[in-house]
Amino acid sequence: MTTPRSVTAVAHANIALAKYWGKADDRENLPAVPSLSLTLEALRSRTSVSADASLTEDAVSLDGALATGRARERVVRLLDDVRALTETKLRLRVESHNDFPTASGLASSASGFAALALGASHALGRPLPVATLSSVARRASASAARSLFGGFVALRLGAASAEPVLDGAAWPLVMVIAVTAMGPKSVSSTDGMRHTLATSPYYPTWVTSAPALFAEVERAVLGRDFETLGAAIEQSALMMHASMLAARPALVYFSPATLRAMERVRALRREGTLAFYTMDAGPHVKVLCQEADAPSVAAALALVEGVERVIVSAAGPAAYVEDTA
Ligand code: PMV
Repeated sequence: MTTPRSVTAVAHANIALAKYWGKADDRENLPAVPSLSLTLEALRSRTSVSADASLTEDAVSLDGALATGRARERVVRLLDDVRALTETKLRLRVESHNDFPTASGLASSASGFAALALGASHALGRPLPVATLSSVARRASASAARSLFGGFVALRLGAASAEPVLDGAAWPLVMVIAVTAMGPKSVSSTDGMRHTLATSPYYPTWVTSAPALFAEVERAVLGRDFETLGAAIEQSALMMHASMLAARPALVYFSPATLRAMERVRALRREGTLAFYTMDAGPHVKVLCQEADAPSVAAALALVEGVERVIVSAAGPAAYVEDTA
């Protein structure tokens, strides 16, 4: 144990290649399906946390604005978990910044909660093992469990924490993100999962089919088999979205630009460039390709109507503590 201090933790967002959608246990926030992701270098959250004995409650600011309501509650709940594990009662001052659009389906909760768990345990002077931090982050947002680790990361069925599968440098793939025009505020993943489970006749089929797709994605990653990986990630994303589309009312995260970007990727393949898409709880399209093809894939996506910005990212590192004061 060391003394409480002020720290800045950095965690990178991750995009699932084998998707998580649906909870087996609401209270513990345990996923109903296994997932496998790639941590991304270009998208990160920087979270400063300091223990402050003069505070009577946690002070939380997200992207420069004081957090209130549900956003604040989720942060405080995570901090309470860290306080319980570190046997401390100190209140914390938290300032978190994302270098990409928050709550837009660009996985800001994943990097945000991963950085928060790491920063809080260090600020309280009791760094916790990474598996414990991953489990704490999972309770806030299951995808956040994966952002504690770099490269290719799995969150297995029933596991409390995520685990690394392959170092990013061992297979230098690139994710090209087509940021599409934002429509009306989308449904949060928690609400969307609840609605899908409650009303979609395809949800049980998704849950029974997802483990085999996860296994195929993991085998393709370990075997560096890009064509198999690409086919499996597209099927995983589309099966997840099919379960949402069959809900009542339908949960539609796609915008016209989403469909145009997907079609552009299929056209790229017809023209001989291997590239594969995946979409999350938002309208953006994330395209996985090999390093040499990244410039041409990015250029093609930038020309798609409704694509506002293209972000090109290599695999990113595990979460880390940046500096101390
Ligand atoms: O961890 P959450 O509650 O933000 O849910 C993430 C859900 C997806 O992004 C759609 C899929 C995934 O595995 O990241």
